[in-house]
Amino acid sequence: MRILSGIQASGVLHIGNYFGMMRPAIALQVEGEAFYFIADYHALTTVRDPKALRENTRGVALDFLACGLDPERATLFRQSDVPQVTELAWILSTVAPMGLLERAHSYKDKLARGLSATAGLFNYPVLMAADILIYDSDVVPVGKDQKQHIEITRDLAAKMNETFGPIFKLPEPRIEAATEVVPGLDGQKMSKSYGNNIDIFSDEKETRKRVMSIVTDSTRVEAPKDPSRSTIFQLYSLVASKDQIANMRERFQKGGTGYSDFKRELFEKLWEYFAPMRKCREEILADKSYIDNVLARGAERANQVADHVMTRVRAAVGL
Ligand code: ADP
Ligand code: TRP
Repeated sequence: MRILSGIQASGVLHIGNYFGMMRPAIALQVEGEAFYFIADYHALTTVRDPKALRENTRGVALDFLACGLDPERATLFRQSDVPQVTELAWILSTVAPMGLLERAHSYKDKLARGLSATAGLFNYPVLMAADILIYDSDVVPVGKDQKQHIEITRDLAAKMNETFGPIFKLPEPRIEAATEVVPGLDGQKMSKSYGNNIDIFSDEKETRKRVMSIVTDSTRVEAPKDPSRSTIFQLYSLVASKDQIANMRERFQKGGTGYSDFKRELFEKLWEYFAPMRKCREEILADKSYIDNVLARGAERANQVADHVMTRVRAAVGL
């Protein structure tokens, strides 16, 4: 089984990225041949500062490694170290129906948030399809917001197969039900573009501040509270043990504890949960060439697979 996923180099990673995509991807690395990459071509649709893009790319590699990606098991690489993927994106774009891309939620969301309608933003799902198909991927672990992109990938693969004969496998999304949408400070989907994020590796003061600013309703301290509608409880459920979760649920329902006490408990658990990752991150940072070496090895392996698939694609389409 080949497993593949990517994460954009558009900023620092938050706990929504961790529970929605990174943790499932890291868990899968022992189940098959995993390929994980930092999507710097995709990030170019929003990042226009070369220094920031370069730094974010290394930063994402660092954080992914610190969170448990094992470069002996999984191939970690930069998307742009495999430029053939842009060639495949072009080929796929020649069969991609405009209507299919016009219906993409993420494109419409981005325009609604004020990004300008560039061809790159519009073609984003085509490049993502190329990322997936160029490694003959079987399974793609992602958060729920990426589901439609995987459906578009399957549509494009099927269209190519129909037109030119069997070239591509049809990949399956792998979306963890329990963490498909991790809520942010305001209860909406956590996202760096909504500013409602809690980052995995911010310092203690900042993390505490973010947790304490989770939006709550005006239920009084003594009154019972509904755990299922609380962001505090949902986030706590990601990092606490079964017993601790049951205990917090009971205290929500009983009343008598205020939201700020629950927030303090959440902060403690969250801080403790990521402690081993913070330690690992320090160790990686101490070895100056570690990240570059991992990415260089990753690029080499990814290129082997991509070259192999592209030979097949070029022959099939007549290039
Ligand atoms: P952002 O929305 O912050 O820009 P990305 O789009 O870069 O995040 O997401 C990278 C990966 O993390 C994707 O697989 C995405 O589905 C997952 N992800 C991002 N935010 C969340 C969230 N709040 N809950 C679950 N998964 C998420
Ligand atoms: N679009 C994905 C995101 O924003 C990143 C991505 C690019 C990706 N190419 C991919 C994810 C291929 C999975 C497979 O999170």
